[in-house]
Amino acid sequence: MTHHTDNALDPRAFRRALGNFATGVTVVTAATTEGARVGVTANSFNSVSLDPPLILWSIDKRSGSYSVFEQASHFAINVLAADQIDVSNRFARPSEDKFAGIEVDIGAGGAPLLADCAARFQCEKYQQVDGGDHWIMIGKVVAFDDLGRAPLVYHQGAYSMVLPYPQTSERVVQSPVISARQERLNHNIYYLLTQALRSYQSSYQPKQLSTGLRVSEARMLLVLDSDACIDQACLLAEMAMPVREIEAAQEALCRKGFISNTDDGHHLTAAGERQANVLRDIAAKQQEQVLAAFPAEEVQILQKLLRGIIASGH
Ligand SMILES: Cc1cc2nc3c(=O)[nH]c(=O)nc-3n(C[C@H](O)[C@H](O)[C@H](O)COP(=O)(O)O)c2cc1C
Repeated sequence: MTHHTDNALDPRAFRRALGNFATGVTVVTAATTEGARVGVTANSFNSVSLDPPLILWSIDKRSGSYSVFEQASHFAINVLAADQIDVSNRFARPSEDKFAGIEVDIGAGGAPLLADCAARFQCEKYQQVDGGDHWIMIGKVVAFDDLGRAPLVYHQGAYSMVLPYPQTSERVVQSPVISARQERLNHNIYYLLTQALRSYQSSYQPKQLSTGLRVSEARMLLVLDSDACIDQACLLAEMAMPVREIEAAQEALCRKGFISNTDDGHHLTAAGERQANVLRDIAAKQQEQVLAAFPAEEVQILQKLLRGIIASGH
């Protein structure tokens, strides 16, 4: 744990501490009457009021997209679904036309509405508040779509997924007879998979974080953990992290002496290799511990079934 006081507020440490607050990911869009369209990946979205229906998000005053948001009468919040990492990355980088090759619907005030989101909120501009280096944009919701898809989550600089919280074991233990509901759940593969994963994760994640590495940094060390030197494009494809977080993790790992960058790409230093080994060890020990009670043949069957389930999703 690190303790910081406000007179020593280091912007990087501050941003990292804020990253512990898991959020969804949205792309906020708008258009001018002349047809200029913008979209910005934003995790600063939040609900404000039910009556009137207000929401807010904040935009960096330096954003190249700001002038369109300033002129537009409306904006749209597109809440991204779990499989829209590429959409998040596309709208997180300045570019001439972020919408190239993407089909959109047109919402109130011409704001582009993205397909296959979890939810979409069309908003009329309600109020704009000065928020330091950001503008806080408050919108009044005039229409919305609730598509209910599993959301994309952002935590500690890495994209994550939602797992429903399990029923507490206390409740199960207290009840002398297994309820019909519990019996049904005990045979439901989705329930079993998510609870098994949650149970596995809850003891694994703290061990990984005890190395002092962020989720994003550990992920990067494990991706780089090979003899190969990996270039930036390859890293982007493998990391499931926004570019700026990849850069932040690279910077942190460089500072710690775990990776070094050459013209060809990134590779682990000897210290980085040792740290990656520690991470791999933690993963291997966790697996050993969890599976210790089961015979090897059963573990193989489990692996085979899980691979089969993964393959059936494609
Ligand atoms: C997960 C994530 C969340 C972000 N949240 C915000 C945000 O809330 N506000 C903001 O101004 N920029 C945010 N950004 C950065 C912008 O997406 C990025 O600076 C912007 O799209 C750059 O393009 P522009 O200069 O064309 O606007 C976020 C980026 C990522 C990857």
